Amino acid sequence: MQAEIVTTAFSNKDIPPPGIPEVVLAGRSNVGKSSLINKLAGKKGLAKTSSTPGKTQSINFYRFNRAFFIVDLPGFGYAKVGKSASAAWKRLIEAYFRDRSVISMVLHLVDARLQPTKLDLELSEWLDFLEVPRLVVATKADKLSGNEKVNQQRIISSAFGGKPVILASAVTGIGCKEIWIRMVESASSASSVE
Ligand code: GTP
Ligand code: MG
Repeated sequence: MQAEIVTTAFSNKDIPPPGIPEVVLAGRSNVGKSSLINKLAGKKGLAKTSSTPGKTQSINFYRFNRAFFIVDLPGFGYAKVGKSASAAWKRLIEAYFRDRSVISMVLHLVDARLQPTKLDLELSEWLDFLEVPRLVVATKADKLSGNEKVNQQRIISSAFGGKPVILASAVTGIGCKEIWIRMVESASSASSVE
């Protein structure tokens, strides 16, 4: 596996022109987006993570095997950054999604332990509106017992109108193989911009 960071975009003008296919990780702050990238890459310090929400403040493009990008977004809904900063992130994220036909899939990360929040549902509606292929990934599943895993998978799936949900953990690696397969499939059937 070869994984490297290529671009960090703090503002609209830093967003690179579309090229190879992109798989995007979206979800609330602290849900584990950056940690999952590190697990998929097999490199602990590749994406910066923190137990404090609001760690990722830029859009980060990680190139995997020279074939596609995994794009790490700033988390949604972190109140403490203040209204103006969260409005700026929203603008940045919206600018990124504009005319981004190279996006082959969005992984919508949610916390496996929780009932999806209002913010999770809003993000889901917005992704519906954008009509991008999507996979719901319930992270931190290592925190759940076997029974809880089954129950939470059902609860989360029904909150999203019956969409399939993959249980995953950046600690134990469960779910990562399936996520990897789905990402590679979507990226290899997606079109690049020359
Ligand atoms: P923002 O950048 O703020 O949007 O957060 P993020 O979604 O990138 O979360 P990040 O990867 O920084 O992880 C947040 C916290 O959750 C860190 O303390 C991680 O160690 C922890 N964490 C992430 N994934 C897992 C997981 O699968 N299991 C457990 N137990 N902890 C996790
Ligand atoms: Mg992050």
